[in-house]
Order: sequence, then C-alpha cells, then structure tokens
Amino acid sequence: MYAQAPENEFARDVREGLARDGQKTLSCRYLYDPVGSALFDAITCLAEYGLTRADARLVECHAAEIIARIPGHILLAELGSGSGAKTRPIMLRLGERLGRRRKVIYYPIDVSGAALERCARELASLGTIVPLETDYLEGLERVAEQRSPGETLLVLFLGSTIGNFEPEEAADFLAAVRSRLSPGDALLLGTDLVKPAAQMLLAYDDPAGVTAAFNLNLLGRINRELDGDFDLRQFEHVARYDGAAQRIEMHLRSRSDQVVTIGKAALVIEFAAGETIWTESSHKFRPEQIVALACAAGFRLERQWIDCEWPFAESLLRAQ
Ligand SMILES: C[S@@+](CC[C@H](N)C(=O)[O-])C[C@H]1O[C@@H](n2cnc3c(N)ncnc32)[C@H](O)[C@@H]1O
Repeated sequence: MYAQAPENEFARDVREGLARDGQKTLSCRYLYDPVGSALFDAITCLAEYGLTRADARLVECHAAEIIARIPGHILLAELGSGSGAKTRPIMLRLGERLGRRRKVIYYPIDVSGAALERCARELASLGTIVPLETDYLEGLERVAEQRSPGETLLVLFLGSTIGNFEPEEAADFLAAVRSRLSPGDALLLGTDLVKPAAQMLLAYDDPAGVTAAFNLNLLGRINRELDGDFDLRQFEHVARYDGAAQRIEMHLRSRSDQVVTIGKAALVIEFAAGETIWTESSHKFRPEQIVALACAAGFRLERQWIDCEWPFAESLLRAQ
C-alpha cells in the first residue's frame, strides 16, 4: 500500500555520514522504521517526556479557536504526523463545522509507513485519511496540488519536530513551506521552549532506557536493511545539552575501539573508544525566536499559546 523508501538513498546517506572526517553523523529521519516509530510512541508516554502532553493539551484546548480563525473550507495536512494522535481534536472541530455536507480530508505526511498505517487506522472514523509516505515538502506539494479554488490549507507541524533542523535549515524549511502555500493558509507550529537543562536532559535520557533503545535502534536498522554488523552492546546512548546553541544532542558512543562493516553501503568504518555518532538535535526556543523565524519566512503570528505545566508554545501562523 505504501511505497518503500529507496534503499540506495538510505545507503548513500549512511555512507556520507559515517565515512566523513571529523564528527560522524546519521540523519534523524532514519530513526523511524517500524521499531523506531513504536519506540517513539512509547517515549511520548514517559513521565519525563512532558513535551507531547503539553502539545496535546494546547491543541485540545484551542482546537475550536484555531478552526474558527480560519474561514472557508479547510484542507488539513500534517508534516511528520507520526500516529496523528494529537490531530484528533482538530478533526473533530472541523467535522462539526462541516456537518453532514462534506467529510474532513486529512493528509498525514511521514516517512514512516508504520506510523501512517496506525494513523489511518485510528483516525478513520473522523474523515477521509490520505496518507502520504514521503518527505515533508514533497508531501506538501502533493497536497497543494489537490486543492480546489476557495479551499484553505491548514498545515500542522507539531511535536517540536522543527527543532530537529539546524537554525539555518529551519529558516529555509519554513520558507519552503511558505512557498507551497497561498496567502491566508495557516501553519500550526508546536515548539518546545528552553527550560532547566536537567529537565530537558531527562526527557532525552529516561531512566527506563526507552530513548536509549530508540537511538540504538538506528544501528539495528542499518544491520537489518543494509547488511551491517554493528554490535549494539558496544555502543551507548548519550544526551547532552549545548546551552549556547539551545539544543539537546543525541549521540551513540562507541564503548571500545572497533571496526564495523556495512555491506550495502560498501563501507568499513573504524571507531575509537569514546568516539560518537551524532544522531539527532532537538533545538529549544524562546517564544520571540519562533515569531522572528516565522516572520522571516513570510508568515505572521495570529496567536500563540504557552502551556503552563511544561513550557511549550503552539503558534498559529498565517501565510502573508
Ligand atoms: C519527533 S516525531 C513527531 C511525531 C508527531 N508529529 C508528534 O508530534 O508526536 C517526527 C516524525 O516526523 C517523521 N519524519 C522525520 N523526518 C521526516 C521527513 N524528512 N519527512 C517526513 N516525515 C519525517 C518521523 O517519521 C516521525 O513520525
């Protein structure tokens, strides 16, 4: 039902990230195979990971206002939807507005086929779900092509996934999103805010080891899909906070000097004990930084809500 991600692209990216001089890297988009998506869903249930609950509270509390602020017929899309659990209140409010005349149409966009299958199954009763298993911008482009005259796009980008981009990439990404929208279209952007470092570190290094398993699974995925021979027990999960860059970094640290072979990437890599692979960054924001980022990309801030239990901002932006 869903297209497989081209294997050669994964192999090429792994080769580029691990064969380079200096800091080895792997792209966080590859964390989300079926095992990784299931582990991510488990992370969102952890007491230490307050981010998802804050995001969900804000969407739930303000869904009616969000929909009321966007006139006309709305086409709903979500970038990196995952299982789409937080989108339920938006679909419900949208369904109330449409009544029996039309069905809600929702386009979840994600590189994880497993997450999209769950999303389509769990939200099926609320409208027509059109899963797009592809990259964010390619998916948004396909949604924009579907729109009829007079329809307004409401694009959700929740979970602070924007924080996975480097600051310059985030600015370019928002501009690229804006270029696929029309004036008046809306973007609902969920962003985690800067908070005490210890609280942020616990969210990315929980004592039960779920986040560690999520991170290590990336090496397991390389073994399964690219014929690698990583010994997962020879790597450990590390989370660090860089205050100047306002970002949590996740790394995988080699416990020993070792050599790893990845057959389908034609790669033999040496690791020194203590050397790391940088797998994900999660940038944290101050409310005014989000507004500046959005305005520079051609949006204006319509409304911003901040959760009072876990500092997290939901910003409703309109394309200018
Ligand atoms: C941090 S999770 C957030 C999931 C969900 N939106 C939430 O808030 O809980 C990021 C999601 O984006 C997806 N993703 C990562 N890189 C992607 C890309 N380049 N294009 C589309 N989806 C991507 C992942 O598969 C994952 O489901």
